[in-house]
Amino acid sequence: MSGERLIEEVGEQHAAALAAIHAAAFAAKDAWGEGAMGSLLATPGCFALIDRRGGCALARRIGDEAELLTLAVANSVRRQGIGQGLLRAAMARAAQAGATAMFLEVSTANRAAVALYTGAGFVEVGRRRGYYFDGTDAGTDALVLRAPLSGFCLPADRRAPRPPPVIPIKRDPA
Ligand SMILES: CC(C)(COP(=O)(O)OP(=O)(O)OC[C@H]1O[C@@H](n2cnc3c(N)ncnc32)[C@H](O)[C@@H]1OP(=O)(O)O)[C@@H](O)C(=O)NCCC(=O)NCCS
Repeated sequence: MSGERLIEEVGEQHAAALAAIHAAAFAAKDAWGEGAMGSLLATPGCFALIDRRGGCALARRIGDEAELLTLAVANSVRRQGIGQGLLRAAMARAAQAGATAMFLEVSTANRAAVALYTGAGFVEVGRRRGYYFDGTDAGTDALVLRAPLSGFCLPADRRAPRPPPVIPIKRDPA
């Protein structure tokens, strides 16, 4: 696989592939089907990335904010850096589209994902108590995490203008 791009941006025509990866990463009740993937990708600002080894990320940019909608790595290929690579690629893609921060929501019980996100610079900015149903009355909290995208490149039209070139002044010899 050397020399080949592992992460690619994909469109609505890849909804089935995205759903297959999601099904390999999530329990059946939580996996998003082909129809859901296609509908999401048809919404303005939404984009999807696939790592051909078995991972995907979906995110949406609204104004100068981006939201990570899902991140999924197939069970069989975890702990190889695929999730981290997809997350960074999604952050870079959102920054290129003009977002200055990315938000996401994650269950406090999802230790793998919380470790991945905090390791990538996300910090807690909110908590929804009992947000996820877990069979108990209390439920499981959802964390709202945020990361600035300032470390990722901005699109050309949002970069600070370059200073004018310094032109050496020729002086006539006195
Ligand atoms: C969360 C998930 C995307 C991580 O994908 P991954 O490819 O295995 O993650 P990476 O190999 O890139 O790991 C990056 C870092 O995340 C953390 N991490 C990942 N899996 C972890 C685990 N099981 N336990 C603790 N930390 C973990 C570690 O800090 C890891 O760095 P390290 O390997 O140097 O210790 C994957 O477990 C997954 O798809 N889970 C099911 C779906 C899900 O919960 N998605 C996120 C919520 S929407």
